Parts: sequence; C-alpha cells; structure tokens
Amino acid sequence: MASKHPTDLASLVEGTPPGKQLWLRGAGRSLYPLLRSGDSVRVLRCAPEELVRGDVALLRVGRKLVAHVVVSTQPVVTASLLGKQDPVGVPLGRVTALRRGAWLLPLPRLASPSLFLGHRLLARLWTRPQARAAFRQLRDFTVSGWSRPLRQRWLGQLEVRLLREDDLDALLVFAGERLLVPGGFLRQQLLGRWTREEGLLGAAVGAFDRKGKLHGFAYLDDYRQEGLQLEGLWVRSLVVAPRARRMGIAFQLITCLVDEARRQGTDRIFADIDDDNMASLRTFRRAGFQESSPELTQRVNTEWSASGGLKPLVVLERVLI
Ligand SMILES: CC(C)(COP(=O)(O)OP(=O)(O)OC[C@H]1O[C@@H](n2cnc3c(N)ncnc32)[C@H](O)[C@@H]1OP(=O)(O)O)[C@@H](O)C(=O)NCCC(=O)NCCS
Repeated sequence: MASKHPTDLASLVEGTPPGKQLWLRGAGRSLYPLLRSGDSVRVLRCAPEELVRGDVALLRVGRKLVAHVVVSTQPVVTASLLGKQDPVGVPLGRVTALRRGAWLLPLPRLASPSLFLGHRLLARLWTRPQARAAFRQLRDFTVSGWSRPLRQRWLGQLEVRLLREDDLDALLVFAGERLLVPGGFLRQQLLGRWTREEGLLGAAVGAFDRKGKLHGFAYLDDYRQEGLQLEGLWVRSLVVAPRARRMGIAFQLITCLVDEARRQGTDRIFADIDDDNMASLRTFRRAGFQESSPELTQRVNTEWSASGGLKPLVVLERVLI
C-alpha cells in the first residue's frame, strides 16, 4: 500500500500566502519522466492569472496534487509532459524547481517558452507507437538482466541487514529520493521501535553499499499506528532503487524481515500488493508468502479504498511457525 499518512498537502499549499515558496513531495509521477514518485517540487504561490504557457503549475485535481505544463490560459488548461490533457483542476501555484535527491533542477520563468515547445514536440512524438516502444525498450534496458553485470560492477556487493540507529541519515536520504513516507515518521519509528529490544515488534531492513548508501528498503510494522484497523505486522514501503533491481535485493530484504519476525516470536506476517505489480508479487511468493483468506483481503481493500486507494490489492501472508 502507498503511504497513507494524513498530511493534507493541498491545505498546506492553500494556507501559504501568495508570493511565498514551499517545498513539497506528493505530486506523484505527474511530470514523468522528469518527475518521479518521491521527488520534490518547489512551489511559488500565485494566482491562476499569473500563469503563462509553458509554466509548470501545481494543481489540485480531486483529492490529488499534480504538477503539469500549462498549455493555455484563461482558463488554465494543463497537460502531462507527454501530452495527456488534464481534467479541470484548481491551480495553486507555479513550480519553480524540482529536486531528486541531491539533484536540483531550477525552472525559471525564462525556461517556460522552451518547456512549452519541448512539451509539444514530446506530445507529438508520443502519439507514435514506434517512439513509445523505443522509450520502453530503453527504460527496460536500464533495469533489465542485460544491464545487470554493468550495474553490479558499478554498485559493488550490497549488504542486506537490519537498520541500526546510526543508519538514520542514509535512510532519510533514500526516503527523500524514493519514498512517500515522511522523514519524521521514519525517524520516530527507527529510533523508537525498529531498533529497540524492549518487547516492541517491528523492524526495518536495508541494502547498503560499501559507502553506507541505501539502495533498497522495507519495514515491518503495525498498521494501526497509521490509522488502519488491521491486526498483525505488515511489510511496508518495499522499494529497491532501479539501479539495484533484478539482483535479488527485494527477495533478500523480505527474507531478512521474515527471519527477524520469527526471532521476535511473531507467528505470521502480511503484505498487501497492487494486483498488477508482477515483480512484487513474484518476489513475495518466492519468499514463501501465500494468499490470505478472502475475508482479510476484502477487509484490507475496504480500508484501502476508504483511504483513497484506487487499485485492488492482493493480500499475502507468511506463516512463521
Ligand atoms: C518490486 C521491487 C521491490 C522488486 O525489487 P527487485 O530487487 O528487483 O526484486 P528481485 O530481484 O528480488 O526479484 C524480482 C522478481 O520479479 C521479477 N520481475 C522483475 N520485473 C518484472 C516485471 N516487470 N514483470 C514481471 N516480473 C518481474 C523478476 O524476474 C524476479 O522474479 P523471480 O524472483 O521469480 O526471478 C522493485 O521492482 C521496486 O522497488 N518497485 C517499485 C516499488 C514497488 O513496487 N514496491 C513493492 C510494493 S508492494
């Protein structure tokens, strides 16, 4: 399940006075491939009349926030970078920079005409099936078995282990790049639960390179503290950075959590996975997870859709005794 922390980003932006800027995460993959889940945008609060063609506007569309290119004004109409026009939303401001990890891309006003032209070019290209196929092949190559030897050489041997208190900085950097979970929550859980021995259940696990940088992460914890009425311990936020995918890292992360849960005396652990996430489903099944009961699956999906989730979830569990 994606993060369900009750952070109302739209009200945070709406509560910011015009002319002020703020950083936020949660505009999803709306400018893909320029913007990915986990990336941040810097937003300048402004009125819709101040937006011009080629600006990247932050909009509220239903319950979601999206950052899209303005394709016409009065009224403001926006589209994704690859051309799909949006349903009408409420413009909240102009995006002035994007940040992915340490990488910062400023988006000054001067860049708007070029972005508009770039958007039109990409949108036109994207209507051609050959261009879409070529892009998919390139994207698949970067995480495919073919590129694995290259990536393995570049990354070196990764160590999969439980997180310790002194891994906090590495975790926050990884979270800034890849997770939607707020840093404050991770800090509180790492220091307050995942590294405590005094009878608290739960754990976090990571894949580290020689320099201590994280390339994969997952945690095991109780859903109730996040406001969901579900018993037991659940594997959450399993993410492996694209550079480290298809090397068995997710399998090792899950296996490490299974071993730790068994050590803590838990009799079973659970996972909920989007029903079209083949990579994740395969990995959990290979790690010995099996379908949970229809009743539990139904309950999880009800909780999930009540909290805004759209895709159906498959619920799996691993019996440990
Ligand atoms: C899902 C994810 C964690 C897998 O990480 P990983 O380290 O590449 O996984 P592993 O190398 O351990 O195993 C991947 C398995 O999925 C398979 N796989 C990978 N990509 C696939 C795809 N697009 N379609 C089908 N199977 C795929 C691999 O062949 C492998 O299967 P096998 O174990 O039967 O050989 C990673 O892709 C990821 O971070 N995705 C984005 C976040 C996400 O979806 N998280 C899961 C939330 S529940």
